[in-house]
Amino acid sequence: MARKFFVGGNWKCNGTTEEVKRIATTLNEAEVPSEDVVEVVVSPPFVFLTVVKSLLRSDFHVAAQNCWVRKGGAFTGEISAEMLVNLGIPWVIIGHSERRALLNESNEFVGDKVAYALSRGLKVIACIGETLEQRESGSTMAVVAAQTKAITEKVTNWENVVLAYEPVWAIGTGKVATPAQAQEVHCELRKWLHDNVGAEVAASTRIIYGGSVNGANCKELAAQPDVDGFLVGGASLKPEFIDIIEAAA
Ligand code: G3P
Repeated sequence: MARKFFVGGNWKCNGTTEEVKRIATTLNEAEVPSEDVVEVVVSPPFVFLTVVKSLLRSDFHVAAQNCWVRKGGAFTGEISAEMLVNLGIPWVIIGHSERRALLNESNEFVGDKVAYALSRGLKVIACIGETLEQRESGSTMAVVAAQTKAITEKVTNWENVVLAYEPVWAIGTGKVATPAQAQEVHCELRKWLHDNVGAEVAASTRIIYGGSVNGANCKELAAQPDVDGFLVGGASLKPEFIDIIEAAA
């Protein structure tokens, strides 16, 4: 089954109004493969979501970097899935390792958030990934399988889920996973989905890689059969993000 290549840009906690407008302008001027070939979703901080959405070309889309686990209310500082839907924001990143680590987001909490966001009609980039210590102890697959299991226990419809494998040791470090390392985990994850969810979900779900992706390493990673795209951090703030999108061609 052909899986449309997916390139996400996670801007994290970066930017000013001027900077995000400059990035949007750069993206709008880029000549890239059509939306039939590659799906591009950029994720500004909450405060810039509407301005980026209003400026961005119609073949690129926006994602929030998180949303709350239930309907809004007395949850100071949170942003609800309903608010994102109300603003016409179609995507949301959930379970990023920085939130799992810094805010103690458990596997179960991430699973609940993925399910709730989907139930409100959002499309979800669900993040998983192991730490360096977990990799060095040989527990990579046990960790990412447990993270994925916590999502599959709450999610029945996978058509609006993109699974992002982001080894924590590769995020922001410049130590990108080798194509073989990425392919190994993506292939094992697809087998896990096949055995635990079903053949159709395994074949159709896009599994994307994140962790020090840049213009120089994206082509070789994109050539791996089970790498269906990227979730890009630092490089998504730079013009080389266009090179990464072009890796889809
Ligand atoms: O969500 C993507 C991010 O975690 C990857 O960051 O800077 O290593 O591309 P970076």
